[in-house]
Amino acid sequence: MKTKEETMKRGEFLRSLGLSSATLMAFYCLGTTMSSCGSKQDDPDPSTGGGSGVSGTTSGNNINFTVDLTNSTYSKLKTAGSFEVIGDVLVAFTSSNGYVALSKICTHEGTTLRYRSQQNDLFCSSHSSEFSLTGAVEQGPATTALKAYKASASADGNTLTVTV
Ligand code: FES
Repeated sequence: MKTKEETMKRGEFLRSLGLSSATLMAFYCLGTTMSSCGSKQDDPDPSTGGGSGVSGTTSGNNINFTVDLTNSTYSKLKTAGSFEVIGDVLVAFTSSNGYVALSKICTHEGTTLRYRSQQNDLFCSSHSSEFSLTGAVEQGPATTALKAYKASASADGNTLTVTV
């Protein structure tokens, strides 16, 4: 025979289940926020080859790759003010300096940088560090310069080569 007390206990049990799954969700969300805050350096980017339009080594210490600027993925790099992240490298086509290639990894905590055409610099959205096109720190909290690579376009403007 079921007593009133047993019924209540089941109600309490269900309530406590609800509470604990809400708590679990809170932890899950916290974890998600933390993992997207940019402190990881090992983004799961395809790092070698880079798929259609790119050939060579696009990550690690021996960066050496070519980009087919006639490929639809990269043809926008023919427009001044645009940029692309290829493997570990950010390639930008600037109005003043032509093609530049620098490490995409913010030296503060590893966030992927972006090129800002108006300021003509690289910017980190995590904590607002700024880098010049030579890789020098213009604004902290980053204190270490970015690695800069050599970027040169072929005479016909259809192939870009990036090397250490
Ligand atoms: S990760 Fe902190 S400024 Fe870039």
